[in-house]
Amino acid sequence: MTTKAVFSSLHTGDHTFANRIVMAPLTRSRALNNTPNLLMASYYAQRAESGLIITEGTSPSPNGLGYARMPGIFNRQQIEGWKLVTQAVHAKGGKIFNQLMHSGRIGHQLNLPAGAHLVSPSAVQAHGTIWTDQQQHKNYGTPRALTPEGIQDTKAEFVQAARNAIAAGFDGVELHAANGYLLEQFLSPHTNQRTDDYGGAVENRIRFVVEVAEAVANAIGKEKTGMRLSPYGVASDMHAYDEVDETYTKLATALNDIGILYLHIADHSAGGAPEVPFRIKQAIRESFRNLIIHAGGYDLQRAEHDLTSGLANLVAFGKSFINNPDFVDRLRYGKPLNLILDASTFYTPGARGYTDYPVFEEATVTV
Ligand SMILES: Cc1cc2nc3c(=O)[nH]c(=O)nc-3n(C[C@H](O)[C@H](O)[C@H](O)COP(=O)(O)O)c2cc1C
Repeated sequence: MTTKAVFSSLHTGDHTFANRIVMAPLTRSRALNNTPNLLMASYYAQRAESGLIITEGTSPSPNGLGYARMPGIFNRQQIEGWKLVTQAVHAKGGKIFNQLMHSGRIGHQLNLPAGAHLVSPSAVQAHGTIWTDQQQHKNYGTPRALTPEGIQDTKAEFVQAARNAIAAGFDGVELHAANGYLLEQFLSPHTNQRTDDYGGAVENRIRFVVEVAEAVANAIGKEKTGMRLSPYGVASDMHAYDEVDETYTKLATALNDIGILYLHIADHSAGGAPEVPFRIKQAIRESFRNLIIHAGGYDLQRAEHDLTSGLANLVAFGKSFINNPDFVDRLRYGKPLNLILDASTFYTPGARGYTDYPVFEEATVTV
């Protein structure tokens, strides 16, 4: 099989991606006190050969820190911590975007700092449980419905976080509007039951997401702004609804008008989630002229196919990067992948299962 497309570089006006392989955002819960550290810098530097690293979800606000040991990017220490990461990745020639993830209703009060609270477009509690370091698994908390001022404040937090990301040395930001977190909570009528300009009709439900994208693009540059979407996703107690196609087509068109750098589409059907209809991927591709990243269950062959067919410009890999720090090198030279993946250390603190996965070494034969 020829894999010319996967390893070809990609040049836009503002960026050069060394290859088409993106390291997908992966929450790894190593940020003690919600602050990035040297351990995280080594982890990302180990994976800097990818065309683009998208960091784990990072909260723009104390209210968005729904998960234990999730990093933030809203205070001075966090910016300094992220500088360790961006410098380590850049020193190895890599490129890195920060995923801005406000968890919205997906969280628990125990995971939040004092004074913070869970917020969402409406006060609709998610079904299910979430880990807390203090009391193990707890039911998701009930969020407060954002007030009109709260909506504007939250938008301002995204803008400030994006500025902070640039100050910390990131090449750009990815707005996380997928997987059931705050931005997607605005898109879905299940979680958005508002009766003001931010709820109801499709145009209203996409409004907050579009306004955040526009405000962030104005603040740091549209060429430094991407967004992740998961149409038909069911993560974090999301459900399909009647107007999914219309919602995402209108959203993609509005984001195209703003001119952001990319849309990143997450499809979790390989992991057992419902199939994402191909027609919505095509509709987004047709509505959005800039770069498209696809993620979910990719291997080299499928990546090459979707790059050459024009469906995607870049392809993101998630789990493979956890247990293969030298994933790109292994693909490029046909070295076998490490298939042993320890899910029990996905979210535990410390180096084990994080920075201690080995790079491939030819077996030394001794006689
Ligand atoms: C441990 C773990 C953490 C994840 N954290 C995030 C995250 O912070 N943000 C996000 O958008 N997706 C997250 N995802 C989803 C991945 O980015 C990716 O879409 C998913 O793993 C499917 O790709 P794969 O089949 O190549 O693993 C996570 C997935 C895993 C396994």
